[in-house]
Amino acid sequence: MTRNSRLLHTNAERDRRAAISLCSRIACVIIFLLFIAACTQKMARQPKYRPLEPSNFFRDGQSSRPLVPGTIAREDAGTNFTNLLAFKSGDTYVDSIPIPVTAQLIERGRERYEIYCAMCHGKTGEGDGTVTGTLSYRFPPPPPFSSDEVRHHPAGFYFDVITNGYRTMGRYSHQVNARDRWAVIAYIRKLQGSNTYK
Ligand code: HEC
Repeated sequence: MTRNSRLLHTNAERDRRAAISLCSRIACVIIFLLFIAACTQKMARQPKYRPLEPSNFFRDGQSSRPLVPGTIAREDAGTNFTNLLAFKSGDTYVDSIPIPVTAQLIERGRERYEIYCAMCHGKTGEGDGTVTGTLSYRFPPPPPFSSDEVRHHPAGFYFDVITNGYRTMGRYSHQVNARDRWAVIAYIRKLQGSNTYK
């Protein structure tokens, strides 16, 4: 054998070994992957409800459970809630908003009011929101906030109405958190032309 042919021989040998080692590595990876594929956990297939799916299990037919009483919105953590939720003292409604009425609070109230109340109560509170007139299904128009009767209700009464509903009006406690309810009330006071925001 010449020196060259020996070199060729060892190069070929080295390539062959490298090829074998690559093949065995690929085989290892494939076997490993097969093992993982076999490991689907049972938890991934457990029965579960999708959001708002109906349920035969709960008596009210809904899979979503109501909020535990006293649940507060995350952004309200640290707020003094005994104060915020105190819309009555004994049997009487409180007659003023228990948090400082600032320009920001009124602006927040305007925004919330226009989202959650204006379609019925109207943008200016006159009871002429879009759902009360033009649609084929006519929602009974609410009384104008400017009427004497509604204007003279204490702030706590408004809080009660938003939290628990009032006759034909449903409750808005899930959509409007406690602080925002006072903000909406401050804005309604503004619509009513109040300058004391009580
Ligand atoms: C789906 C329509 C609708 C929406 C939305 C709505 N209301 Fe009402 N609201 C009514 C109706 C109708 C009445 C009158 C209820 C009755 O007397 O039967 C009413 C009554 C009221 C009253 C009592 C007025 C009175 O007679 O003294 C207040 C206060 C009030 N709403 C505030 C709000 C606020 C604040 C919001 C938003 C968070 C809101 N409402 C959202 C329809 C609505």
